[in-house]
Amino acid sequence: MLAWSDSFATKIEMVDLQHQKLFELLGRLSDNFNQSDPSETLVNDTLQELLAYADKHFVDEELLMLHAKLDARHINIHRMEHKSFIYDAQSMYEHLCTTDDLIVVSEKLVRFITSWLTFHILGIDHSMAAQMTAIKQGATPEQAYEARRTLKYNADVTHLMLDSILDLWHMSLDRCHKLEEKLAVLEGRRQQE
Ligand SMILES: [Fe+2]
Repeated sequence: MLAWSDSFATKIEMVDLQHQKLFELLGRLSDNFNQSDPSETLVNDTLQELLAYADKHFVDEELLMLHAKLDARHINIHRMEHKSFIYDAQSMYEHLCTTDDLIVVSEKLVRFITSWLTFHILGIDHSMAAQMTAIKQGATPEQAYEARRTLKYNADVTHLMLDSILDLWHMSLDRCHKLEEKLAVLEGRRQQE
C-alpha cells in the first residue's frame, strides 16, 4: 500500500492535502482485495470515487498553475498526464473486467494507480512546485521552466521513481502482449472464413 511520506510533499498545502486524500482512497481500493469475495459494486464505487476525486484535484492543480503563470510548455504536458491517467485507469478497468476476476482487477488497478501517482507526484508535481517557488522569487516563467533540469533528487526518491516507471512499463508491455494475442486469434478466424 502506498503510504504518505515527506518525500511526496510539494509544500503546497492544498496539493499535499489532496494527494493524501488520493492515497486514502487508494488504500480503500486495496482493501477490496484483502477480502475473500469483494463485491463488484464496491470495487466499482471505490474506483469511481477515486477517479472523480482525481479529476477534481487535477482541475484545482491546473488552475493553480495558470494563476501562478507557469510556462505553457509545462502546463500542457502536465495537463496531458492528468488526462491520460483518467482515460488509462477507466479503460484498464473496463478491459480487465472482461478478462479477470475481481480480486485480480483490483490488484492490477491498485498497482497501476500506485505507480502512476508515485511517478507523477515525485516528477511533474514536484517540478511544478519548484517552478512556482522560482517565479515567486522573481524568475520569469521561462527561466523557472528551464531551471527544472537542475532539480536535485535524493537517492530514495530516484529509486522510487525508477521502480514506478519500470512497473508502469511492465504493465503496458503486458497489455500489449495480450492485445497481440487477441489480434492473432482474430486474424486466424478471419483467414478461416
Ligand atoms: Fe499533477
